[in-house]
Amino acid sequence: MKNFTFHNPTKLIFGKGQLQQLPKELTAYGKRVLLVYGGGSIKRSGLYDQVVSLLKEAGAEIFELAGVEPNPRVSTVKRGADLCKKEKIDVILAVGGGSVIDCTKAIAAGAKYDGDVWDFMTRKASPADALPFGTVLTLAATGSEMNSGSVITNWETQEKYGWGSPLVFPKFSILDPVFTATVPKDQTVYGMVDIMSHVFEQYFHHTPNTLVQDGFCETILKSVIETAPKLVNDLENDEYRETILYSGTMALNGILAMGVQGDWATHNIEHAVSAVYDIPHGGGLAILFPNWMTHVLDENVGRFKQFAVRVFGISADGKSDRDVALEGIEALRSFWNSIGAPSRLADYDIDDSKLDVMVDRAMVYGPFGYFKRLDREDVTAIYKASL
Ligand code: NZQ
Ligand code: ZN
Repeated sequence: MKNFTFHNPTKLIFGKGQLQQLPKELTAYGKRVLLVYGGGSIKRSGLYDQVVSLLKEAGAEIFELAGVEPNPRVSTVKRGADLCKKEKIDVILAVGGGSVIDCTKAIAAGAKYDGDVWDFMTRKASPADALPFGTVLTLAATGSEMNSGSVITNWETQEKYGWGSPLVFPKFSILDPVFTATVPKDQTVYGMVDIMSHVFEQYFHHTPNTLVQDGFCETILKSVIETAPKLVNDLENDEYRETILYSGTMALNGILAMGVQGDWATHNIEHAVSAVYDIPHGGGLAILFPNWMTHVLDENVGRFKQFAVRVFGISADGKSDRDVALEGIEALRSFWNSIGAPSRLADYDIDDSKLDVMVDRAMVYGPFGYFKRLDREDVTAIYKASL
């Protein structure tokens, strides 16, 4: 294990009926509230009305930023930050999926920054202060509800970068599986792919003596693999939703990162695709991850064999380690296909015409990835294998 310090200050409020905690949790930070949400799903589900009525009862004055895009845009962040400054907002409430929460994180930091908020994403500046914010999560996927990361897109320049700061952990997050029951099948699948991918990014490493960490990762993967086929055929099942919701938070709240050096190359490669083509993050990962795995397999075949045997139950009898490892990657590919995830960039009408642009975007900070350091050639090969 590597040395580590773990600190996660987000209060996690999980389960049915927990929205009742919202007024107390939010108004502890003030009464001038900016409510941030997406393209309308919370209005259709009735969650918007519930939130507004609870906040009004608590005497909150509500301002709104609606229409946060999937793959949230820096232009929307700027509108939100300006609104916070103009209306002297005390606290922000994000109600939605990862995009709404990521946008809120950037607004919270932007509200306390005089420069261009894009400076945070391009690493020209880091936040010195941020407004407090809470979240009500409606989609299990990113873990943004309990981490300090955010991913923002600049559509004009076709760039999409992750950034983060300890100042943008949510103060609290309310997770009720019922709020995720309206997520359509495709987004549900993308969410589950994203959750598994977060585990992979932290499971494929070279750090010795990680018995406990491996067990946490394998348990989350097996829970998603067991639940996903049932959930896609029974989208309103609260128990399946609950399992996936909890898995999503546990996959990326820092717990799996304790004592290991995660990889994160595939996320970087995917962000470059969704920067240029605006595809769903989880859809991109479903296409790219198996190809990253095949590309880096020989860095540590034993790790991939362990994955195949422990997670997919593949028998190692009479086979070489490499063959077992390859069977594990194939099992993942067919599992994702079986629940309806895409498997080729062509599924999104992406061909090689902008391959160089995607490679440039992915390589913007030079070679990356810790399991195997990837250079231009590696990234190009992974994209080509994914076409
Ligand atoms: O905008 P609305 O109308 O709310 O609709 C959304 C959106 O169209 C819909 N949706 C959300 N909850 C729903 C619902 N529809 C019906 N019922 C509900 N309860 O789902 C669509 C997708 O939402 P989005 O928030 O974009 O999805 P997700 O949570 O997967 O977030 C994706 C973004 O997060 C970034 C991704 O790159 C992408 O930009 N990531 C953020 C991370 C982080 N902060 O730690 C890590 C991830 O690896 C990821 O990169
Ligand atoms: Zn992700």
